Amino acid sequence: MHSDFDSQVDRKGTGSLKWDRFAGRDVLPFWVADMDFKAPQVVINALQKRVEHGVFGYTIPSESLFQAAQNYQDTHYGVQVEKDWLIWFPGVVPALNVACRAFTEEDESIMVLSPNYPPFFSAPANMQRKVISVSLKDVSGRYEMDFEAMEAAVTPKTKLFLLCNPQNPVGRVYSRKELEQLLDFCERHDLIICSDEIHCDLVLDADKEHITITALGERARKRSLALMAPSKTYNIPGLCCAFVTIPDRGLRIRFEKARAGLVSEVNALGYIACQAVMEEGESWRRELIEYLRANRDYIVDFLKKHIPQIKINHVEATYLAWMDPRELGLDNAKMFFEQAGVGLSDGADYGLKGFLRFNFGCPRAMLEEGLMRMKRAVDLLEQKH
Ligand SMILES: Cc1ncc(COP(=O)(O)O)c(C=O)c1O
Repeated sequence: MHSDFDSQVDRKGTGSLKWDRFAGRDVLPFWVADMDFKAPQVVINALQKRVEHGVFGYTIPSESLFQAAQNYQDTHYGVQVEKDWLIWFPGVVPALNVACRAFTEEDESIMVLSPNYPPFFSAPANMQRKVISVSLKDVSGRYEMDFEAMEAAVTPKTKLFLLCNPQNPVGRVYSRKELEQLLDFCERHDLIICSDEIHCDLVLDADKEHITITALGERARKRSLALMAPSKTYNIPGLCCAFVTIPDRGLRIRFEKARAGLVSEVNALGYIACQAVMEEGESWRRELIEYLRANRDYIVDFLKKHIPQIKINHVEATYLAWMDPRELGLDNAKMFFEQAGVGLSDGADYGLKGFLRFNFGCPRAMLEEGLMRMKRAVDLLEQKH
């Protein structure tokens, strides 16, 4: 391994959302989805070169950036994307919000699976649209779409389906069969599919592959858009660069109209970083996947050995582990572990009270320390009982 994922970079006092939430307290952050690794050297080099230029005027995406995004989708996902289909955006969350505005009217509804990344619930609400939330079903510890429940919940007013694939927080990579079944469902009810695929390059299981919605053929291309960004995979979320792929011209026009005047262009440095990783980031990404896979397996082993009361479902993709600590009987699991020095995300924010989300995109030593703190807190709790 050439990249140094074991080094702990001190991020305190850098305006880091993740670290500075706990400023002045001994709490290790395992919450918001950014990793504690330095970005690939190719990003740092490309940014340094651009910064040297010294002029940072309004910037448009270059021809070579379009080409890089087209090549990336071709080599990684086997889809041939036309240049016109791509729309650059300063983030995936703004794109989710714009999709709600573009493809539904105020009295219409949007279907979302739960648990899910919180903006899936807030984006429809921001646009005064009704959210129809359907729970994923737990099939022997694996979350799956519940088509029966979806059929029961959909109404003639439902116009949009917000998909998260791979799914944050449960780490599922939906199979071709599941996606085709979803497409059948959306066709039957005439729903547009907005597919947030920000975690697409973070598939950890060697036997799984990410299938982008536009790879499902013409049927899907007529009614879908895919949201991607290099931000999670290459740890550059603060550079704010994402792109939306919309093959259908009519949908593209509606989307552009809904963003007009509200969503700014991507910043000059975001484009540069995005192009650098798409052209030269692959070896770093492969090493990252190995590191994350080992971290994931470490957590599973640790919990099994030391805190078997906390259940964890298999993380197929992402660096986020979805934990079920309900057997511990805690009133507020997030606060309990925070008091023990471990900052986690509260499952309630994702639609499932009592659960926790643990971000393992960090050096192994930090992961070990975080888990040890959890173990000590649970041991003390058990002694009291
Ligand atoms: C599913 C999902 N979508 C979007 C985002 C954030 O996207 P952005 O920072 O580009 O707005 C995240 C961040 O964790 C995420 O998990």
